[in-house]
Amino acid sequence: MNNQAIVAKVLFDALNEHLTYEQIENLLEKPKHADHGDVAFPVFSLAKVFRKAPQQIAPEVLAQIDTTAFEKVEVVGAYLNFFMDKAKVSSQVLAQVAKEKNHYGDQTIGENRQVPIDMSSPNIAKPMSMGHLRSTVIGNSIGFLLEKVGYKPVRINHLGDWGTQFGKLIVAYKLWGTKEAVEQDPIAELLRLYVDFHEKAEEQPELEDQARAWFKKLEDGDEEALDLWRWFREESLKEFTDIYDLLEVKFDSYNGEAFYNDKMAEIVTMLEEKHLLKEDKGAEIVDLSAYDLNPALIRKSDGATLYITRDLAAALYRKRTYDFAQSIYVVGNEQSNHFKQLKAVLKELGFDWSEDMHHVPFGLITQGGKKLSTRKGKIILLADVLNEAIGLAAAQIAEKNPTLPNQEEVARQVGVGAVVFHDLKNDRLNNFDFTLEEVVRFEGETGPYVQYTHARCMSLLNKADFSIEQVTNFDLNDEASWEVIKFIQSYPEVVMQAAKLYEPSVIAKHAIKLAQAFNKYYANSKVLQEDDQRDARLALVYAVAVLLKEDLRLLGLHAPDQM
Ligand code: ARG
Repeated sequence: MNNQAIVAKVLFDALNEHLTYEQIENLLEKPKHADHGDVAFPVFSLAKVFRKAPQQIAPEVLAQIDTTAFEKVEVVGAYLNFFMDKAKVSSQVLAQVAKEKNHYGDQTIGENRQVPIDMSSPNIAKPMSMGHLRSTVIGNSIGFLLEKVGYKPVRINHLGDWGTQFGKLIVAYKLWGTKEAVEQDPIAELLRLYVDFHEKAEEQPELEDQARAWFKKLEDGDEEALDLWRWFREESLKEFTDIYDLLEVKFDSYNGEAFYNDKMAEIVTMLEEKHLLKEDKGAEIVDLSAYDLNPALIRKSDGATLYITRDLAAALYRKRTYDFAQSIYVVGNEQSNHFKQLKAVLKELGFDWSEDMHHVPFGLITQGGKKLSTRKGKIILLADVLNEAIGLAAAQIAEKNPTLPNQEEVARQVGVGAVVFHDLKNDRLNNFDFTLEEVVRFEGETGPYVQYTHARCMSLLNKADFSIEQVTNFDLNDEASWEVIKFIQSYPEVVMQAAKLYEPSVIAKHAIKLAQAFNKYYANSKVLQEDDQRDARLALVYAVAVLLKEDLRLLGLHAPDQM
């Protein structure tokens, strides 16, 4: 039970004639200062029933409650301040971590049901953008979070592998491309061809007609067109995979947009049968004015389907395939209208499960305050950023810990971790400016700082030759350890909140605060001193190590034992 619940219970036992348990819970506050205790109860709302000034009520309430569970309960003005019994809480919390280890904080609300997470989803033949990196790492972390609370995540890379641009690419490749150039540097070369196409098409509009014709061939299953398309897709995917390997992100499915080519007809038929399709200048749309949304364009006048048509088919496919409890789309904020339309059309079709679909948006990464674009010159290449971070980490390790055996591996874990943590530590909707120096800063509120604190705990435990199995007494009652205990105690709630809000930053912040509290504790306590609390102190160090490692895992980072 958490502290609020313990306090709410004793108050409810005394005040149940006047207040409900929920009312009491809602009134409880968390004091800003430690000298006001751990939980505070303001009595103002009792003034009416008691017909007295709040200052007089507080002592009366105090006289009625069972205070045995607390170190003390103090009246300050109109407040009752509850001080938890530190030894009791620490022994309960530390014993629980000792027993459950990295499963501490696990929950079962997911009931093993599946949750598809649409994440990363870059576009073939284009560089993976910073936005796709954000989607990848946020989605990956949400996967771990959902798993922690009992769901089964299904990570889906909904590749942008279909659309009229492939007609253009085929034309450009046949006119100006070579196999060798594409194989050597696939995405850069395909991007160059694409950009060339647009430049040349301004003077030679007939290129556009050719592109349309090639896309039509592709849609009709022409072998030459399909072979080229497949090859572009494979070559691009190889490059994306390099980045996924660095990040150690794994997908359960690479079913991209093209996968739904043969699954859209069913959706279009359903829309027709429900009389939801309207003609608009030859195109077919679903009117969404009832939802205050622009109409959804389902089919163009030339019969071509669109992004949303494929997403409709994908949503239905996922419901049938995974019988999902929720279906999540980790996609930039700028697509929020698209997802509103998507849900609205499904709702019009009578699919109640559309309520379980959630767009999980995130903010932009900017540079010098400006939006990054994939246009030439402004691309930050992800692989470069990651490799640079690894290089910086390697240099730091070589300097600080030259005898470390697996330096290369640790440098990768720290360098990549720095980039990932930097992305996840702020509320996902915040925009943030990207500077490499900032990302690979190893002090302050960073991934390496958390990793370093974990390694410090491990070395301490190692030095003490500590085994958690032998600890019998987990009582700690000093102020310094209490600040750490509270972050351990609140962990199950922190996990729950992060999973419910789809917000990895809740975990990142917990990791930072726990690491800071621990480092402060460590600086002020003689952990290894031989006395009767030594085991309990080491159990605290152990619990911190377990939780920091688990926090990092939930964010998609490693926690090396040494660094
Ligand atoms: N490929 C798209 C883009 O880069 C993102 C796809 C997101 N997922 C989806 N099911 N629409 O903008």
